[in-house]
Amino acid sequence: MHSGHISVLGKEVVSLMGDSDQSLYLDCTFGAGGHSRMLLNKYASSRVIGLDQDSDRQTQVDALKNEFPNRMDFYNYNFKDLDQILEDQFDGVLFDFGVSSFQLDQADRGFSFSKPAPLDMRMNRKLGIPASEFLNTASPEVIRKSLRDYGQEKRWKPVLEAILNARGSEVLETTDGLAQLVYEAVGPKAVRLSKIHPATLTFQGIRIAVNEELSVIEEALPKAFDKLAEGGILICISFHSLEDRIVKRYFRTLCGLPLDRFDSRPKQERTVSATALTRKPMKASAEELEFNPRSRSAKLRAIKKGVFSKQ
Ligand SMILES: C[S@@+](CC[C@H](N)C(=O)[O-])C[C@H]1O[C@@H](n2cnc3c(N)ncnc32)[C@H](O)[C@@H]1O
Repeated sequence: MHSGHISVLGKEVVSLMGDSDQSLYLDCTFGAGGHSRMLLNKYASSRVIGLDQDSDRQTQVDALKNEFPNRMDFYNYNFKDLDQILEDQFDGVLFDFGVSSFQLDQADRGFSFSKPAPLDMRMNRKLGIPASEFLNTASPEVIRKSLRDYGQEKRWKPVLEAILNARGSEVLETTDGLAQLVYEAVGPKAVRLSKIHPATLTFQGIRIAVNEELSVIEEALPKAFDKLAEGGILICISFHSLEDRIVKRYFRTLCGLPLDRFDSRPKQERTVSATALTRKPMKASAEELEFNPRSRSAKLRAIKKGVFSKQ
């Protein structure tokens, strides 16, 4: 059962997580509760604590609480604050980054250029500023960073210029207004050559900026590792290279591996506190790709807390 959002790499998550009947899991990105449900189904006595910064998740939380009485709790938290929950000694912690299909499909959330809506894009609508306000008030350097670095939009210059020229107008107030602005800014040749909608990368970059998606991952990963019991498993599923890079570097640090080819520190200078479970990131199988296209860009990395002989 997936009620609108199909969980990515579900089989892989379940098989990597610990195998104790009494397992306690922390699902830092509860979403539609798909991964949580799989973990609760795995063992009759397992418990799951779910977190999500989106306060619209209550229906899915209630459904799971009814289905698994006394085995599930939920906190409406940003995962960067996960150190504030009382429970610890988790057997498994999971992150499945980004937005859910629910959020993309709900037009008034303003995530999608395919539906006319106010340009919001906040995962937590009680905090921060909507994307429209961000585009109207942030400095050109900050908007450039969101387009060029977060969106990895090669044509960021004309898009930035068009955004700055449109300040104060209705164009920046709606998803369709912004999509049309990008369409016109990148020019007909780019539109013709593009395999994706020309506004895809702009929307991605602005969403990452509005929700501070990268800095919260950097903040949350060490807190998640602290919450694990010895032998506990930390799993991260990323959907673009910027997320994956943060995870990869943190996991390599924990496993005592060089961060990159420029890291020349001798081995004895590196502390080892975890064991890698995935040498290379896991990706969706051909079978999964067929029924869940969203899994195409997913990369899963996992580590086990403590030093163990190779798995
Ligand atoms: C890809 S969905 C997760 C789907 C879920 N694993 C499932 O199987 O249904 C990502 C969810 O994480 C939430 N999220 C993203 N960033 C977050 C953050 N910093 N703190 C808490 N929740 C976050 C989003 O609101 C969204 O509901």
